[in-house]
This record gives sequence, C-alpha cells and structure tokens, in this order.
Amino acid sequence: MRVVMVGTGYVGLVSGTCLSEVGHNVACVDLNEEKIKLLKDGTSPIYEPGLENLIRRNMEHDRLTFTTRISEVLGNADVAFIAVGTPEGEDGSADVRYVEAVAESIGKLVERNLMVVVKSTVPVGTCDLVEETIQKQLAQRQSNVKVTVASNPEFLKEGDAIGDFMKPDRIIVGLNDPEGQAVFRDLYGPFVLDDQGKLLFMDRRSSELTKYGANSMLATRISFMNELSLLCERLGADIDKVRQGIGTDPRIGKKFLYAGPGYGGSCFPKDVAALLKTGEKNAVELEVLNAVTRANVAQKNRAADKIIAHFKDLNGKRIAVWGLAFKPGTDDVREAPAKTIIQKLLDQGAYVVAHDPQGQGNFAREFGDHERLVYADSSYEALRGADAMVLVTEWSEYRRPNWDKAADMMAGKVVFDLRNQYQSQELHDRGYHYECMGRPDSKLLS
Ligand code: UDX
Repeated sequence: MRVVMVGTGYVGLVSGTCLSEVGHNVACVDLNEEKIKLLKDGTSPIYEPGLENLIRRNMEHDRLTFTTRISEVLGNADVAFIAVGTPEGEDGSADVRYVEAVAESIGKLVERNLMVVVKSTVPVGTCDLVEETIQKQLAQRQSNVKVTVASNPEFLKEGDAIGDFMKPDRIIVGLNDPEGQAVFRDLYGPFVLDDQGKLLFMDRRSSELTKYGANSMLATRISFMNELSLLCERLGADIDKVRQGIGTDPRIGKKFLYAGPGYGGSCFPKDVAALLKTGEKNAVELEVLNAVTRANVAQKNRAADKIIAHFKDLNGKRIAVWGLAFKPGTDDVREAPAKTIIQKLLDQGAYVVAHDPQGQGNFAREFGDHERLVYADSSYEALRGADAMVLVTEWSEYRRPNWDKAADMMAGKVVFDLRNQYQSQELHDRGYHYECMGRPDSKLLS
C-alpha cells in the first residue's frame, strides 16, 4: 500500500518506518526542514534503539522516503496518517491545531479516494472535526473524491517502540463505516499474522477514548503503588513483596506496579490532564484521576525531600544524579522526575553533577544553565567528590555499580535509590547510608 505519514515525531517516525519494513511504500512528511534533512541522510533525529538501522535499510530498498511537502506525495496515497503533536494547551486540554491544519491540507490536495487515519492522541470528537474540515475543502472544490476518516491510536512505548509496533498487543481501529476495515486488514495484516483477533474494530469515539483510558489506567496504577510504598515505609513493610503479592492476581497482573519517583514522559501527564479536561467539559467529575495527578506531583517532590531530610542543610553539598531521561532507553526528558528533583536540590544550595547515557543534551537544553549544575562524561565521573548519589532513572548501566570504586571516588557514602535497584545488604556491608522507596531498609520519613 502507498502510505503517507504526516509528522515524524516518535509515533510518526516509528510507525512509518515499521510500515515500510513489512513492505508498504511510505512517504514521511514533516514541516521541519532540519529533521527531514537529517532523515534523508539516514540519521534519526531521536534516540530509539534499532530505529536508525531500520530507517536506513528501508531507504535503501526505496520503500521509505522523506519530504517537507505533502503535495509531492499525497497524489498517489491509499492511506494518509496524521501523527503530528497534540501538545497540552493552556487549559490542560490537548491542542489539536496541528491535526486540523493537516486535515485542511489533505482536503485541499486530495485527488483520489483516501483513508485518513488519525494516529495522534486526540480528544474524543477530533475525528469528526477532521472529517468536517476535509469535507468543507472538498465541497469548496466541488470534488467528489471519497475520504474516510478513522481513529487508530498508538500504544508504543519509548525505548521499546519498534518491538511494540512490530508485535502489538492489539491494534485499535475506530471506524464509523465498517466498509473501511479491509484497508486496515491489508495495512496491519503482517503485524497480526498469528492472531487476527488483535485487530479490534470499534466506533471512532470509543477508539479515541480507549487511548486516554489506557494511559490514565496505567498512571493510576503507578500513583497507587507510590502511595502504598509510602505506607510501607511508615509501617516497616516491603513494597517489593507487596507488589509481588498483588501482581500474582491475574486480574491485576505483574506489570506497571513499580514504585519510583513518579511518572513522567510525553504521554502520561499530558493525557491524564486532557482526560480531566474532557471530564470537566462534559460535567463528569473524574475524582480518581484528579487524585492520581496530585499524588504524582507529591511523589516527585517527596523523592527530593528524602535527600533534603537526610542532609538537613544541603548548602554546598555535592550531589551526583544518575539518570535524567524520564525512563531508560530514551533521550526524552519531558516531565522527567529528574527536573523536579534537581530543581529542589539547587534551590537548597546543593551542587549537582548529573549523568545520563542519552538524555544530557536534551536536559541541558530544556532545564537551562545553572551555575551549580554540571554534567559528567561518565557515571563514575559524576561521583567524584560527591556527598551522595541519587539514582533517578534505572538505566541498565547503573544496575550493578562497583560500590568499592564508587566509595573511593565519593566524599560521603550515601545512596538514594529512587528505583529500588540495589540490595541494601551490599551497601550496608560497605558502610553506605542507603535509602530506597518503600522497603524496610528505607529510612523512616519524619
Ligand atoms: C506510555 C504508554 O505506556 C504507551 O502505551 C503510550 O503509547 C505512551 O505512553 P511511555 O511514555 O513511553 O509510554 O513510557 P512508559 O514506559 O509507559 O513509562 C511512563 C512513566 O511511568 C515513566 O516515567 C516510568 O518511569 C513510570 N513507571 C512505569 C513507573 O514509575 N512505574 C512502573 O511500574 C512503570
């Protein structure tokens, strides 16, 4: 099939590349000339394991091309995806102006029957808006081309994006007219060869709401576990044991129950805020979700408060921070807990030496300069002269540090493990002060 993918962010670029990998002919479009130039040279503008190789391979096979002009590629397309950003607007609702702008261009340019697929995460009713926008343009041009609009939210996770796309748990397609299903069976057939039941068809509004529902449910699990871990600290219980005990109930499941410094990223905070706004606009009080957001903000602060409570006075203290990205496997620092934590440490007068295998550049750009914030070339280098180390993101290279080597480099032997990655015994044996999240060796918060 001939596919146009508008938007080369995480979702658009991964989706476009993976669709070309199974043999579709994909043209990716983005207004950002710099990005397109990089991509034309076979360079991925984002860090995502395996993506750049896949881009190069499919470019070599002439199945994947890049352009800044939708007019060059729409003429031949069978399917046009809209995968542009929907940033959080001022009032918390998702801003769909870029989606609308693409719909308008499609309406102006389309010359043959086309399936338009909205992949961006959009508020319920946006596909209706896209349809109206396109139909208005068609009416103005007196064109009788048939354009169908479908919703097809994306569930890929950064860091595992290619695996998630190539081997999906499910593919959700929202169509108001079942006639369009055949297009999606052709498009996604190669991804669900072993289980056609993974292709779930429903109406457009249900599909749009599914995406927000899924992300909000996951955020809820995390906030709940974070609160439970706090209770563990007060009660002398162990959140790891409680998690195992809870997660073995198949109705709950084992995944996404890890306590930490709060969730971040480009999706959870934005999608939870957008669903709250949708509730508000429709006079539905989403009380659970309100609490989820409050708990997450509190959790990010609480993580920093642990460090402040230990030192009492952080003035002039040197703190090494391991991990800036919102999770491992990505250079994405959007809404990363590290931002809140580092800001609080700096506000208290500390010096911060930060390290991240991929996220340092983005962090420095987004966080801005601070006279007491510097970056280290390696994780161990960050420890030199530090009074404490804080593990914020659980990159695998941080998983098994050489604690003796670390002790030689650090000024004080203090470790705050915000991801419960280390064994307390190992650290205690070497004379470290060790705090983690909701495990018995974690110091009681006063
Ligand atoms: C998420 C959804 O998982 C994905 O389906 C959707 O398409 C986009 O949003 P992503 O933002 O890439 O994906 O990250 P994810 O792996 O879901 O992690 C989100 C945040 O939750 C991270 O900050 C992570 O550290 C945190 N998290 C996750 C926990 O604190 N505990 C957990 O048990 C799991």
